[in-house]
Amino acid sequence: MQDQLTGIEAQAVAELRAMTDVRSLEEWRVAYLGRSGRLTQVLRGLGSLPIEERRTVGAQANEVKRRLEALLEEKEAALRQTELARELEQGRIDVTLPGRPVPLGRLHPITQVVREICGTFQQLGFQVVEGPEVELDYYNFEALNIPPEHPAREMWDTFWIDTGEGERNVLLRTHTSPMQIRVMEQTRPPVRVVVPGRCYRYEATDATHESIFYQIEGLAVDRAMTMADLKGVLAEFARRMFGQNRRVRFRCDYFPFVEPGVEVSIDCFGCNGMGCNICRDAGWIEIMGAGMVHPKVLERVNYDPVEYTGFAFGMGPERVAMLRYGIDDIRLFYANDIRFLRQF
Ligand code: PHE
Repeated sequence: MQDQLTGIEAQAVAELRAMTDVRSLEEWRVAYLGRSGRLTQVLRGLGSLPIEERRTVGAQANEVKRRLEALLEEKEAALRQTELARELEQGRIDVTLPGRPVPLGRLHPITQVVREICGTFQQLGFQVVEGPEVELDYYNFEALNIPPEHPAREMWDTFWIDTGEGERNVLLRTHTSPMQIRVMEQTRPPVRVVVPGRCYRYEATDATHESIFYQIEGLAVDRAMTMADLKGVLAEFARRMFGQNRRVRFRCDYFPFVEPGVEVSIDCFGCNGMGCNICRDAGWIEIMGAGMVHPKVLERVNYDPVEYTGFAFGMGPERVAMLRYGIDDIRLFYANDIRFLRQF
């Protein structure tokens, strides 16, 4: 029986030595040390031995068991160590490699143009303010000298908001001009503001019309302001924005909240007025509407129109961007096509 034990131990040790992965260790444990393993079987057979022998063989068997258990533990630790080392080696990364470039976003071309226009007016002493896109009829029309049923309302096709009260009172602003009123209600002259923002019109879209677009409004009110101030400021703006040699043309136009009203054009920056495809051979490009603030508008906000006068203007940054970058369809700005937007 003692020989048998020595044999089992020798075989167990040899097998264990040859093992190379942690998973087979469990099979080995079951085969030798498990409940019906070979060593256990020997221990069970002890009962049939005479008492003296039983003691020595029992002690020997327990010794073998202890040694095998200790060896198993050692082997398992060694194998885990090798395995870990292999995993570390395989999963090795080179931290000195350059990183993968993160694609950089950019500002939308309209945002860029809006910022440039506002920045130019800031240099000229104007402050930038913003106002609500959901407006009241009062600010969008009435206070701007456009009473209900006035045919001039036809100039702005309006999205109305259903307030559940059956009245046409709340709307999406059709221009940024309502901010003229809101600003003047809240301050006393001198006023010099530009107002960038989104506007909405109930229109069929085509290459030059969108139902959502931007405007930049301007308003300056002070003592003794004249048409000369309007012309001086807008001409200076045109030169800073479109080139130092730009010439500016003012022609009569109609807007209910200014008198006189004008359209402002610059000589074409594509051909210096000779005629090209940017200006459609006209030599001139219209860039905004403007005029002297109507006395009725000033009265509405309790500015005395004898003491105070001012000028206002409004322009479309989409149009500026289209002219500048040679874009022939306004809808491209809002189609969210990254191939288009990436170019700016
Ligand atoms: N609000 C006008 C429009 O939308 C533009 C404008 C603004 C004209 C200020 C004159 C003065 O057409």
